[in-house]
Amino acid sequence: MTVRNLFLLPGDGIGPEAMAEVRKIIAYLNEAKGTGFVLDEGLVGGVAYDAHGSAVSEEDMAKALAADAVLFGAVGGPKWDAVPYEVRPEAGLLRLRKDLKLFANLRPAICYPALAAASSLKPELVEGLDILIVRELTGGVYFGEPKEIIDLGNGQKRGIDTQVYDTYEIERIAGVAFELARTRQNRVCSMEKRNVMKSGVLWNQVVTETHKAKYSDVQLEHMLADAGGMQLVRQPKQFDVIVTDNLFGDMLSDVAAMLTGSLGMLPSASLGAPDAKTGKRKALYEPVHGSAPDIAGKGIANPIAMIASFAMCLRYSFNLVTEADNLEKAIANVLDKGIRTGDIMAEGCKQVGTVEMGEAILAEFKAISA
Ligand code: IPM
Ligand code: MG
Repeated sequence: MTVRNLFLLPGDGIGPEAMAEVRKIIAYLNEAKGTGFVLDEGLVGGVAYDAHGSAVSEEDMAKALAADAVLFGAVGGPKWDAVPYEVRPEAGLLRLRKDLKLFANLRPAICYPALAAASSLKPELVEGLDILIVRELTGGVYFGEPKEIIDLGNGQKRGIDTQVYDTYEIERIAGVAFELARTRQNRVCSMEKRNVMKSGVLWNQVVTETHKAKYSDVQLEHMLADAGGMQLVRQPKQFDVIVTDNLFGDMLSDVAAMLTGSLGMLPSASLGAPDAKTGKRKALYEPVHGSAPDIAGKGIANPIAMIASFAMCLRYSFNLVTEADNLEKAIANVLDKGIRTGDIMAEGCKQVGTVEMGEAILAEFKAISA
């Protein structure tokens, strides 16, 4: 029987609550569909710091590297605001991205029809919205050196971060964007700040050259990242695939997420390059929302982004396409029935907690999969 190794890192805040709902879906898949998922679980973020003083242990890093895929919840919270920078909760996530070489972050922003009214934009602007943000995840200002605060000795300090991109990094993320565009509406918009940044000039050149050399069938447009942000809230449906760097991708994906009604809805996949021998990619799947410490432990968090992240895992790591489609359909159907967590609650709907939402999706998933 196929063995599929999943490493679970629920993390902090609402992470564990959301992950618990995914566990139920995995158990069902194993039982009813013989998917052979084998689970192991580790610590990341604040809980890892509390347990052993680092944001992720060497042992858990080794397990993440060995697994077929990692499912990640969320990290951080006010409890750890004062811990040293090197071991802050976010450092665990950044290390996983870097050491697993997960350079391609896919962040779909899909507006479920039932949620168009929950968006901060007019429903007609977001109804049917389906954007894919492809964010470069292991380079740029997040990891560039030097990265430090130096003492200038005159009572002043200087904070330094370095934005740096090499040709190969831009080429490979552009390649991912163009390939994915071919499976969608075949359009890519590349965003940078070439009017201010040298890395933006290079980004623009390399994306243009990659397009010309290998992907000229795809429609390519360039936009300055600030204008891109503006267009995202003005006319979001003009976009199909957006490709951008680590920092702009961080910001633009939060903007895109909010268009869909709630940050609690959006999944993401972080992928490495396919292995030359096996064709397998390292991968980590995580909701775009954070740890939401204000509502953690109350049983009211929306588990949809976590469940949808698992759907991406089924699709991208295990090629279980029918199961992924069905799980996404189950989410849409439950929303159509008017079942809502507090963050997406609307008039005339039924408000439920995390467990009820998870179980409603599982019941729907079972019905569709039977
Ligand atoms: C994200 C988050 C992370 C990031 C934080 C938690 C380090 O905002 O995944 O978007 O900035 O990349
Ligand atoms: Mg972010």
